[in-house]
Amino acid sequence: MNLFDTSSNCLKLPLIVAPMFLVSSPELAIASSKSGVVGSLPAANARTIEDLDQWMAQIHQALNSDNLPWLFNMIVHKTYDRFDAEIELVKRYQPAIVSTALGSPTRVMGAVKSYGGKVIADVITPAMAKKAVDAGVDALILVTNGAGGHTGTYNPLAFIAEVRQFWDGPLGIAGCISTGNDLLAMLIAGADFALSGTRFIGAQESLVSDAYRDMLVEAQMGDVIETKAVSGVKANWMRQSLEKADIDPSVDNPAAIDFSGNISTANKAWKDVWSAGHGVGRIRSKETTAEIVDSMVEEFNSAISNANTLLTQLAKAV
Ligand SMILES: Cc1cc2nc3c(=O)[nH]c(=O)nc-3n(C[C@H](O)[C@H](O)[C@H](O)COP(=O)(O)O)c2cc1C
Repeated sequence: MNLFDTSSNCLKLPLIVAPMFLVSSPELAIASSKSGVVGSLPAANARTIEDLDQWMAQIHQALNSDNLPWLFNMIVHKTYDRFDAEIELVKRYQPAIVSTALGSPTRVMGAVKSYGGKVIADVITPAMAKKAVDAGVDALILVTNGAGGHTGTYNPLAFIAEVRQFWDGPLGIAGCISTGNDLLAMLIAGADFALSGTRFIGAQESLVSDAYRDMLVEAQMGDVIETKAVSGVKANWMRQSLEKADIDPSVDNPAAIDFSGNISTANKAWKDVWSAGHGVGRIRSKETTAEIVDSMVEEFNSAISNANTLLTQLAKAV
């Protein structure tokens, strides 16, 4: 299985629709994979393990007969107490890719590799990337500055270049990849594939409210505020929602980072305060997943043709 080979029948772009807490639904995952990119589901979005079982069965049933890949995202933090039950579901439904957040990917390696699945780790520093490589991951996702959710710090060009010094395997990039042009730029910079989150938050198939969708359309890059005030971990939030929830972004949340209990219902912060990355300024209308993917494919193809024209002109000039 080569997930990132766009010459295969199923993929129109080397793109994964990013797993997003309280945003990704089974419908969004299915619509993404059926539209020609890779859909995803974060385990924590299901309120109970029974709900998760049902959601994974729904995705498996919709995609498996056409051999369409999808990604399952798991929290591997030591305080996350549903891990053991979730890894049993991974063995049952065998998602093609498992990505891990908030801890070492080592915990999922045996189970996922046993059925031929791929393990990908989100990393925000070259040191984390090295650790993930040592743990035996199949691919890395570099989360960069301006990404939605728990964001990164580094510039994508510099981050890709540094990681490429010790990793020549599949390399993904996340952070503000909102158009086909952005995707092509990242492939030229040395990535093999990308994750796009913010562009898909408001997709018709997502779990978010219409008020969240309206805010995405209204917000610009300058409205995105990075703060630890909401969850204790550095993340990007829309200023309008911080103001509504009366949260002062300059105050760090002293609460310990804890993923125990039912985080999809207990984590009120993410329900009332809404995340988006710097790419939010590109969202100007409410679309379906298929419409977003189609426009990214169109942008990607026209960016390739513009790049070819540019190369021809440059070749003539020298
Ligand atoms: C609302 C929201 C929730 C997110 N939740 C998760 C999550 O549960 N697990 C995860 O690994 N990443 C999560 N992310 C990060 C995304 O997977 C991805 O790295 C990011 O959205 C990419 O940047 P972009 O939003 O600028 O495209 C989330 C992002 C957003 C915007």
